[in-house]
Amino acid sequence: MTSENKTTDLDISTLTEEQAKAELAALAVKLADADSAYHTEDAPVISDAEYDSLKRRNAAIEERFPTLKRADSPSDQVGAAVAAGFGKITHSVAMLSLANAFSDEDVQEFDTSVRKYLGLPSQAPLTFTAEPKIDGLSLSLRYEGGTLIQAATRGDGAVGENVTANALTIADIPQQLDGAPEVLEVRGEVYMSHADFAALNLRQEERGGKSFANPRNAAAGSMRQLDAEITRSRPLRFFAYAWGSVSAPLGQTQWEAIEKLGSLGFSINPLTRRCQSPAEMIEHYADIEAQRAALGYDIDGVVYKVDDLSLQERLGFRSTTPRWAIAHKFPAELAWTTLEGIDIQVGRTGALSPVARLAPVTVGGVVVSNATLHNEDYIKGLDSKGQEIRGGKDIRVGDLVQVYRAGDVIPKVADVDISNRPAGAEPFDFPQVCPECGSDAVREPGDAVRRCTGGLICPAQAVEKLKHFVSRAAFDIDGLGAKQVEQFYGDGWIAEPADIFTLQDRFGSGVQQLKNREGWGDKSATALFAAIDDKRKIPLSRLLFGLGIRHVGEAASNMIALHYGTWDALAKGVDEARDRTGPAWDDLIGIDGMGTVMAGSLVGAFAQEAERASIDRLIEQLDVQEAKRADTTGSPVAGKTVVFTGTLEKMTRAEAKARAERLGAKVSGSVSAKTDLLVAGPGAGSKAKKAAELGIETLDEDGWLELIAGL
Ligand code: IVH
Repeated sequence: MTSENKTTDLDISTLTEEQAKAELAALAVKLADADSAYHTEDAPVISDAEYDSLKRRNAAIEERFPTLKRADSPSDQVGAAVAAGFGKITHSVAMLSLANAFSDEDVQEFDTSVRKYLGLPSQAPLTFTAEPKIDGLSLSLRYEGGTLIQAATRGDGAVGENVTANALTIADIPQQLDGAPEVLEVRGEVYMSHADFAALNLRQEERGGKSFANPRNAAAGSMRQLDAEITRSRPLRFFAYAWGSVSAPLGQTQWEAIEKLGSLGFSINPLTRRCQSPAEMIEHYADIEAQRAALGYDIDGVVYKVDDLSLQERLGFRSTTPRWAIAHKFPAELAWTTLEGIDIQVGRTGALSPVARLAPVTVGGVVVSNATLHNEDYIKGLDSKGQEIRGGKDIRVGDLVQVYRAGDVIPKVADVDISNRPAGAEPFDFPQVCPECGSDAVREPGDAVRRCTGGLICPAQAVEKLKHFVSRAAFDIDGLGAKQVEQFYGDGWIAEPADIFTLQDRFGSGVQQLKNREGWGDKSATALFAAIDDKRKIPLSRLLFGLGIRHVGEAASNMIALHYGTWDALAKGVDEARDRTGPAWDDLIGIDGMGTVMAGSLVGAFAQEAERASIDRLIEQLDVQEAKRADTTGSPVAGKTVVFTGTLEKMTRAEAKARAERLGAKVSGSVSAKTDLLVAGPGAGSKAKKAAELGIETLDEDGWLELIAGL
């Protein structure tokens, strides 16, 4: 028998030399496999906890038998112990992302939308800051009493990883601040310069280590080292550009606040400017773009922010992005290569997506061999309205195609050069049946996408639904990634989400056991069962998002969950809305951000018998947590239904609505018996009359502002 996978639980103090040698060999193989699975497939084969424990066991055996330490000892692997075992930190203020602008018109539109929201006339002065968008990874640094006490990565925006030990090794990050507020969270970007990146890759190659695709990956990989000494050896830098919690304001404007961070000792970007109009912003963008290649570090656009912090405060946030800032991205990077084939992938909602298989080509520092071709019309040279694109040229296998990628998004095929089209190249024949299950693939009128009609019988849809179910924004089960889901599905261990929660009953003991599967062991199996159990208690919004219903994304799931509160109320509401008319339907489509398409999709999924039975089986396994609005303690309108009518003079309707919602109120467009409060400005008509008839409390705008003052 080989030593592979034969790591043991034997007491290290009683190991014989022979046993120790065999086990060190086994550990080396197992940890190397785990590393490569983690790095190359983004689908760990063992849990982080098990990885750590194996690594510790390896080190302990080496300590007892120093002469047995192997040349390829996992203890010496640079760049290996990543992402295992960082503690989690809940951000006191969420770390959000930015909306994007791609054109001058988008920048103009940003200015317009800010003015509209604030009710500022187009001639009124409005200042913005403009600064480079650094292509690294964001970090939040918490100082208390002037001392750096915590550093966290962005993570999912709400919860990040505790990387304090690593942050302490970065020279650009001060450990002590003089003259800072008692509590100060500084946010900014960790990045690596081009020169440092090139030198690091050279060193890595010399040592036979892994080289990095680009400076951002190198910075991220370096920041997520469990061993801070490795981070120290990597030349990381930091620019400060924002803040989270602060016990005292840093200034009255973005500009002043950033200057303050500079005076406290942070690096702030020297290309930051104040601009008085979209024209000035665009001019500065062009200026930064012209200097881009000479900067010595990667940037991927320019960020504009409303300068006045009291306006930022009023503008607030959409679900994941601030209204007061936008990222103006640089145009995507381009390259030409040969289209070697077109594969059809079947997604979670049955969509047949054509994927270009390309002769590998480097686009902006990353090797690309696949790119999306969107849909069948796109291949034909038509847009979603049937109009010609690319001058009507279709795309055929063998053609030279232009590939582009922007930031992290999936590369796309943008253009085709047919001047050297190979003789005999045929137009692509888009399949009319699902390549995975053979069911008809149909295109509904108005849908750009052809979809498999196989539903749950289609293995591709089922497995994609499962992958979505375990994904980070949904159930996020430690140790159960896309790869494991594919394997379990392939072997018939799980066919639908409910099966995940019965895995232990079926494979925790008995003849066929998880721990005996290739790549699994006692510890990893136990850890997986625990991780699954841990997620039985699940927030309503995650559950809804996890169901993978078409059109129902993460932000919508949040809104829907907040609206109904509990699973029972949601299921009842959606069931009653089945006929797409009546009060339950009106209630559903009244949810902010909901349209008839999304509502129809939700109602349809709940009404479809097989799908519903599968959802019900899942619910039986879960303890669904009630959705509650964020901290609205002290809010006099939490849980109340508020209607605004008439003209508001101190804020726009959009601002009033967003503010009320932030305080936990539901804002409705019409007065009914369910209305708790009417805020009526001048010119209020029938709504005010109806409210008076129903005896509903009514306030004018000043009364409303007084009610919510200081909140
Ligand atoms: S401001 C509330 N400024 O871009 C949002 N972000 O796409 C505050 N980034 O997560 C972010 N350079 O990691 C801001 N000058 C800059 C930036 C910047 C890079 C990153 C940041 C953010 C991401 C959003």
